[in-house]
Amino acid sequence: MLDYEKMFSERAKPLQGSAIRETFKVLAMPGMISFAGGAPAPETFAIKELTEIATDVLTNQGVMALQYGITEGYAPLKEQVRERLNRISSTKEDDELIITTGGQQGIALAAQALVNEGDIVATENPSFIGGLNSYRSFGGNTVGVDMDNDGMDMDKLEELLKTTKIKLLYTIATFQNPTGITMSVDRRKRLIELADKYDFIILEDNPYGELRFSGEPVPTIKSLDNNGRVIYCGSFSKIMSPGLRIGFVSAPKTIGEKMVVCKQTADVHTPVFTQMLASEFLKRYNIDDYIAKSCELYGRKCKLMQDKIAQYFPDCITTTKPEGGLFIWCSSSVDFDSSEVQKAAIARKVAFVPGSGLMPQTGVKTSSFRLNYSNSSEEKIDEGMKILGEVLKEYVTR
Ligand SMILES: Cc1ncc(COP(=O)(O)O)c(C=O)c1O
Repeated sequence: MLDYEKMFSERAKPLQGSAIRETFKVLAMPGMISFAGGAPAPETFAIKELTEIATDVLTNQGVMALQYGITEGYAPLKEQVRERLNRISSTKEDDELIITTGGQQGIALAAQALVNEGDIVATENPSFIGGLNSYRSFGGNTVGVDMDNDGMDMDKLEELLKTTKIKLLYTIATFQNPTGITMSVDRRKRLIELADKYDFIILEDNPYGELRFSGEPVPTIKSLDNNGRVIYCGSFSKIMSPGLRIGFVSAPKTIGEKMVVCKQTADVHTPVFTQMLASEFLKRYNIDDYIAKSCELYGRKCKLMQDKIAQYFPDCITTTKPEGGLFIWCSSSVDFDSSEVQKAAIARKVAFVPGSGLMPQTGVKTSSFRLNYSNSSEEKIDEGMKILGEVLKEYVTR
């Protein structure tokens, strides 16, 4: 047997498998109730509409759908995305707009274009593992900035900036993954000021921003920026379908052009066929009506999950109160390792994501964990929360 480990690049060696992707392996077990992934509810997929569109596209524009396309993306879709971003002032006239293969690719291309070995990338603590791994894979060191219910703590960020030069700040400011927290408007403004003062780029990752089910909309960070400091990443994964793999980036032109070259080394372009499906869907239907239905559904499921947490979980567990998105973050005043609880819960066929894999600093143990409410039926939320409550009670009374 060859020693493949020693052949790995220095860049690949520190990469840890995503705790969530690992959990997917056990999710296939019959009867498993999963609060682990970040998948949208299957009932939100417009399968009938997309079936018709797929047939029409292949029948009438088959050659274009099956041929190579251009790296920046299918032009009609780019226009539709630009129009949607204009509505929330999240693209600038001069920005480069790129259709990416999922929002994940937008993050990875930004990392490839900007992050050198040893560069510091500041992120929320905790953060999205796909983002953390993108920076790490280019040699970046991820440093977490603590959050409260208004998002990243800007005083703590400034303390860090006084001593440490950061290249990039990664934020999921709206309905954050994994906490569900939204950064307040004041903090968004302060973040822009700090970026100007300490000279760094902000990557605003916003795949959940349109999934608001309560509270008032907040402006994107990109819309508050006048100095070309913000790369904005979005996605159709949570509002149309993750399987289509369509995301988008609006980046200051020079950065965007470099990201286009990076994309040519990754996948040349996002599949034309799925871009055409998304584009035709946006043309024929009002996606906002579909999003409104998803929000209604997620608001109901989130409330149900919170009610069940209050009913079944031990009193030491507190949770965030999301106004949108797909996740609730649980913390405990009693110390335990949520990775251990996860094992016990999986043995009883309930899955969730322990916080340890979501920390910018590796090797941290935590009692915090993430719950997803979008992908389970209301019956399964009730059943799964009851079991998880029982498992947690065993751990906190030990
Ligand atoms: C914060 C965040 N960013 C980006 C993504 C990537 O999504 P996709 O590549 O499916 O668009 C996800 C997916 O869960 C996410 O949670």
